[in-house]
Amino acid sequence: MAEKKEKVLSVNNLVINFKTDNGILKAVRNVSFDLYQGETLCIVGESGSGKSVTSKTIMGILANNAIIADGNIIYRGENLLEISEDEFYKIRGHKIGMIFQDPLSSLNPIVKIGKQITEAMLINSDKLKTMYNDLISDDLIRYKNTLAKMNIAISTERKKLDALISETRAKEGRTAQQRAADKALIKQKKAEFKAFEKKTREEYMGKAKEYKAILAETEKKAKKEVAAYKAQVTEEYKARQAEIKGKLSAASTKEEKDALKKELELAKEDLDNKLCITKAEAKRRALEIMKEVGIPEPERRYNQYPFEFSGGMRQRIVIAIALTASPEILICDEPTTALDVTIQAQILELINKIKAERNLSCIFITHDLGVVANMADRVAVMYAGKIVEYGTSDEIFFEPKHPYTWALLSSIPDVDSKEKLEAIPGTPPNMIHPPKGDAFAIRSKYAMNIDFREEPPFFKLSDTHYAATWLLDPHAPKVEMPKIVSERIKNSLEGGAQ
Ligand SMILES: Nc1ncnc2c1ncn2[C@@H]1O[C@H](COP(=O)(O)OP(=O)(O)OP(=O)(O)O)[C@@H](O)[C@H]1O
Ligand SMILES: [Mg+2]
Repeated sequence: MAEKKEKVLSVNNLVINFKTDNGILKAVRNVSFDLYQGETLCIVGESGSGKSVTSKTIMGILANNAIIADGNIIYRGENLLEISEDEFYKIRGHKIGMIFQDPLSSLNPIVKIGKQITEAMLINSDKLKTMYNDLISDDLIRYKNTLAKMNIAISTERKKLDALISETRAKEGRTAQQRAADKALIKQKKAEFKAFEKKTREEYMGKAKEYKAILAETEKKAKKEVAAYKAQVTEEYKARQAEIKGKLSAASTKEEKDALKKELELAKEDLDNKLCITKAEAKRRALEIMKEVGIPEPERRYNQYPFEFSGGMRQRIVIAIALTASPEILICDEPTTALDVTIQAQILELINKIKAERNLSCIFITHDLGVVANMADRVAVMYAGKIVEYGTSDEIFFEPKHPYTWALLSSIPDVDSKEKLEAIPGTPPNMIHPPKGDAFAIRSKYAMNIDFREEPPFFKLSDTHYAATWLLDPHAPKVEMPKIVSERIKNSLEGGAQ
């Protein structure tokens, strides 16, 4: 793989905290990864490791108590964490689609399947409006983004201040002196925030004013252009209508008249299609997509309700809905956990097929490393809010380096015996007080003293393979991976790995 693939999404140094009654929960801690065009990146980790929070941040659907404390998410040269709602609306569900774990919660139980698939298409059915929006889009987004950047900058600082205040309040056993010092610090931080807010507003409002004036001009021009287009197609239709009507009055036989009447209908349909996406067109597209995701008898299924579908079929519908917008990136958050094993395999196969046919880039989230083998180009292993190992699929499966990756590999049910070889001992840590050093140390029989004190850096194993474990430090004793893992690797290599 010598050729350089294009990065479609780049997550850098992402830090997400949640304000909770018990303190600040550190859900995502300095996560970075790249998604390449046409590839699948699998994010693997136990429950609570921060997988969903990461994907929700990309989709811009974090809960209200979330604090984006640091980092950026670059998509087409823009930081998704700083763009306005207007632009996000164009991206979320359109350029970047998402499939969730439970298909039932993403479908409306009392609306027929066909309607749910066509709904999104028909929301944007007014082609004149779409044309107008496209014409003003760049200027509108520039203006709105400026305001959004200003508001985000201010609210991020405000949230940091709030977090500091609540953390200070939660501190126990402070002496009077410490209290006074804390109070002074908070007072100072409040003053700094006020100054920051004032400066930020001044800075951005100047630019925003300028962009607003440009936008107003563009809006005027766009209105004219759309009106001209509408006048033109209507004019053309009228001319055509007059021509056919002329022929109709001259026609003598019934066949001739019927043919001309049909032509008249077609001309009207043609005009409708130029002005909006008609219901008929939406239905035609919906049936095509239903076929693409493997729904048998789509015509009949179109008029059924979700409860008339099996779990696997419902998940296919959810995938169909995500596809109606022709996304470039598809995020699948544990899309098969609610399904039984055979159906799970079928859905995975479907996702792989769609990905290849549409040249999609996928982020596939799962807690089961076994699922990953046939899907992933690259794998990010997450533990306690961090990526602890990152590499190509081959590197993770054949040269794993982090004890947590070993543990995950040991816990995959064996393909032949189907037995689960080794459960991971212990439980994931409390993320309000994440452990110092390597968070996995307490559950790992390979832990060294340093693992409890200092956080391991990322050791580079190849251009594509990184792992954060002190075992890779040159001073560390040589440790072999668990026998179960090495045997499995040996077996799969001997068995002629595909
Ligand atoms: N709104 C919230 N408020 C407080 N804590 C939250 C919130 N959302 C998520 N968390 C916490 O963030 C951490 C990461 O959660 P996340 O949902 O990303 O886990 P996950 O890896 O997707 O796990 P699972 O496999 O169970 O889906 C967890 O400790 C979770 O409890
Ligand atoms: Mg999750």
